[in-house]
Amino acid sequence: MKKLLDQITEEVMKAFAASGYEEEYGKVTLSNRPDLCEYQCNGSMAAAKKYHCAPIQIASKVVEELEKSAIFEEALAVNPGFINLKVSASFVQSYLQAMLQDERLGCDKTEKPKTMIVDYGGPNVAKPLHVGHLRSAIIGESVKRLGRFVGHQMIGDIHLGDWGLQMGLIITELKHRKPELPYFDESFGGEYPKEAPFTISELEEIYPTASARSKEDEAYKNEAMEATYLVQHGHRGYQAVLQHILNVSVADLKKNYASLKVEFDLWKGESDAQPYIPDLVEMLKEKGFAYESEGALVVDVKEDTDTKEVPPCMILKSDGASLYTTTDLATIVERMKLYHPDDIIYVVDKRQEMHFVQVFRCARKTGLVDSETGLKFLGFGTMNGKDGKPFKTREGGVMRLEHLIADIDEEMYRKIVDNSEAEIPEEEARETAQTVGLSAVKYGDLSNQASKDYVFDVERFTSFEGNTGPYILYTIVRIKSILNKYRELGLDPESGIIRAPENETQKSLMLRLARFNGAVWNAFEELAPHKLCAYIYELANAFNKFYHETKILSEEDEEIRSGLVAVLVLTKRVLETCIEILGFEAPERM
Ligand code: ARG
Repeated sequence: MKKLLDQITEEVMKAFAASGYEEEYGKVTLSNRPDLCEYQCNGSMAAAKKYHCAPIQIASKVVEELEKSAIFEEALAVNPGFINLKVSASFVQSYLQAMLQDERLGCDKTEKPKTMIVDYGGPNVAKPLHVGHLRSAIIGESVKRLGRFVGHQMIGDIHLGDWGLQMGLIITELKHRKPELPYFDESFGGEYPKEAPFTISELEEIYPTASARSKEDEAYKNEAMEATYLVQHGHRGYQAVLQHILNVSVADLKKNYASLKVEFDLWKGESDAQPYIPDLVEMLKEKGFAYESEGALVVDVKEDTDTKEVPPCMILKSDGASLYTTTDLATIVERMKLYHPDDIIYVVDKRQEMHFVQVFRCARKTGLVDSETGLKFLGFGTMNGKDGKPFKTREGGVMRLEHLIADIDEEMYRKIVDNSEAEIPEEEARETAQTVGLSAVKYGDLSNQASKDYVFDVERFTSFEGNTGPYILYTIVRIKSILNKYRELGLDPESGIIRAPENETQKSLMLRLARFNGAVWNAFEELAPHKLCAYIYELANAFNKFYHETKILSEEDEEIRSGLVAVLVLTKRVLETCIEILGFEAPERM
């Protein structure tokens, strides 16, 4: 369905044309004076300059045309030349009825579906998921779902960090602890055990221990670097350990991401890109892009218009080792080859921005991507604690994601038990706490503009009031409960027909519902889930006002009542569709 605002704009453009002015001046926006009107057009001001007359003259002429339109209930020319608009009740009614009958609620899919890879998550294997990885997972997931909803082919890739020194460190530590294992026996020719020589909790203890030791013990560090080199160059035993590390880590990661409702299509990692490196380096040298600088191989990526220094993109270190940039470039080669994406979107901490500037420029300059391929960096800010510093545990350590989620669920559980009028069975209360807890975490994050830092405030995020996930869910649950009562009367909520709004509160709710397709498209085009959050917050507020001012179930006239119920059904569907895109869901009751 055409967006409501576009329909209105078209109508006003036609009126400009019919009055003898160029139609471009007919652009309409949401009113910034909602007390006076719903929409406004300020085009007469600009038109006045071109047509050398007073803006109010133009506005008045256009308004005369608009008075004939069925879309508007009121069109006023206001000094010095604004056009204030109110849409007609019947127009809103028919728009919403069409939405109600459309399974996509009036939000069309794109006519040009593209393939887009979303690179998000980015955890490092063998290290526990911590809060730093939370934002990437939450934002990336919703960007992927947004794109999918508007009809693009979205491929979510976790891009595991599985290729660094951490591997060598773990192998080294394991070798010190259990030297008798066959992986460390150079003469061993048989098959290695299928069972991993550690559990996930052991693995998570091994890594920090090894990492700490390498900082104090030079020889140990060299050993780890040697092991890293060997595992990256095909050492059989070490590669078998690497496989165990991957298997154990990935199983644990899958569990953790599933609890966040985060799903990846691809579980690829940095290691998958390694086979592409030799050819890449060869090409860069051959075509003269790469040159040697202080022993390292680099590609210049600075541009004349740079205001900040952009250092050359390093391809190989002086010892021949590849780097994070090399891996990301090789990953681009791999992705272009296997998936031919139109866009690759990276959802990564904004402190890595320079890295991506270098990688993108290098990829473009050297032709790894076509000129039309989009490389987008969606950098996010830091999640801080109430003290304004990066979020930590009470003891000051790195907060493990699992613990953070558990804390929230506990807080939610308490609230639900305190809040509910009826006795909720323990099991249901726990389950509901998880569902609502997830909304608290995700909405708390997504409602902030991604690039900004934000304060993770458990108390505020879990509140049932204000701009929070639980508030949105509460609104949905409230609607579900009314619809259930309506069903208990033996009536079918789905059969109602939307009626024209009877008062300002109803109309304001209905106009907000009508903005659904615009809100989704806008959020997608700007890769800005926070805009969808802002939309549902406004919608939930408009609904709750309506709910408090309107008798719904007690309305005696069944035609009116079923019409109100139809508005409820539509509100519920719009809210549920939006939270599904944002990556969480509502319980039956709370
Ligand atoms: N593993 C990286 C980290 O923890 C994030 C990876 C982001 N994606 C990428 N293609 N570089 O910082």
